[in-house]
Amino acid sequence: MSKPKSNNSRTIIVALTLCLVCSVLVSAVAVGLKPSQVENARLDRNKNILVAAGMFDPASDTADDVAERFADFDVEIVDLRAGNYLDDDQLLDVGITDRNAYDASQATKNEALSEDLGENDLASIGRVPKYAKVYVKNDDAGNPEMVVLPIQGYGLWGTIYGFLTLESDMNTIRGISFYEHKETPGLGARIEEPKWRAMWSGIHSYDENGEVATGVTKAGNPKENWVDGISGATLTSRGVSNMIQFWLGDLGYKPYLDHLREESGVTLDETTNSIDAQANPKLDQKTDPVAVVASAPTVAGKEA
Ligand SMILES: Cc1cc2nc3c(=O)[nH]c(=O)nc-3n(C[C@H](O)[C@H](O)[C@H](O)COP(=O)(O)O)c2cc1C
Repeated sequence: MSKPKSNNSRTIIVALTLCLVCSVLVSAVAVGLKPSQVENARLDRNKNILVAAGMFDPASDTADDVAERFADFDVEIVDLRAGNYLDDDQLLDVGITDRNAYDASQATKNEALSEDLGENDLASIGRVPKYAKVYVKNDDAGNPEMVVLPIQGYGLWGTIYGFLTLESDMNTIRGISFYEHKETPGLGARIEEPKWRAMWSGIHSYDENGEVATGVTKAGNPKENWVDGISGATLTSRGVSNMIQFWLGDLGYKPYLDHLREESGVTLDETTNSIDAQANPKLDQKTDPVAVVASAPTVAGKEA
């Protein structure tokens, strides 16, 4: 009588075959879904740019609306230290072949494209990219009506990514949005709530001396031109405060914003006076974002 084949080896062969089939299936699905994941991430990012710009109504806007409104923005690459845009030749010189595909966060992993922040790392991000990607909406005369600036900084549990939009005076905050973070729902994640984000709209970024004039206070300790922190989420609030102050500062977008203001011939003195004269319109993203866009002040005197 022949000896029956070992049950163990059969089990191992079946298990290995099953593993192989499953891993091929999972890989195929992952590869197949990759393009739609990339597309969804792009759509979500564009939507959050519009949220920060006060141009998105979650109740009614569709993906087509997002695409149509996002088309109003020019994508520019800014040399953060110099404060000016890179033209196509300069982009090629620094190795950026496609401005739309450029990812400043990824650039921080490349030593040639970023700088170590050392002790000046207020936002706890380690390195700052030399070149940032910004989104500019121009008015009919070709003058910047608003700029949307990507921002990032460490919260309590991880890096928070968002966008900060400034009005044409390059001082008044128009809106803010956060599109990726690891903060706790109901606590730190409340930074996403429209009501909290609305508190940013209409406040100054800088005082008349060019110092950053805003941040987030501890909850219940109101301070003029600062945003009230979220109660029970002091650490996330502090993280947001630090990231705002870092990106508005000298190592962030300040040289660029100074440059734009200089081009338009508007001084910080004039912008702070005009903001004080306004009633600090508090933008509620749930109300009428398009009406808010229509009421955006424009800068006089900038050359087209
Ligand atoms: C499970 C858990 C999750 C938390 N998540 C957050 C958070 O996302 N952001 C935050 O600032 N604090 C969070 N906290 C609270 C912090 O540990 C800390 O107590 C709080 O930031 C202090 O805020 P307060 O001074 O307003 O009470 C969390 C605490 C626990 C136990």
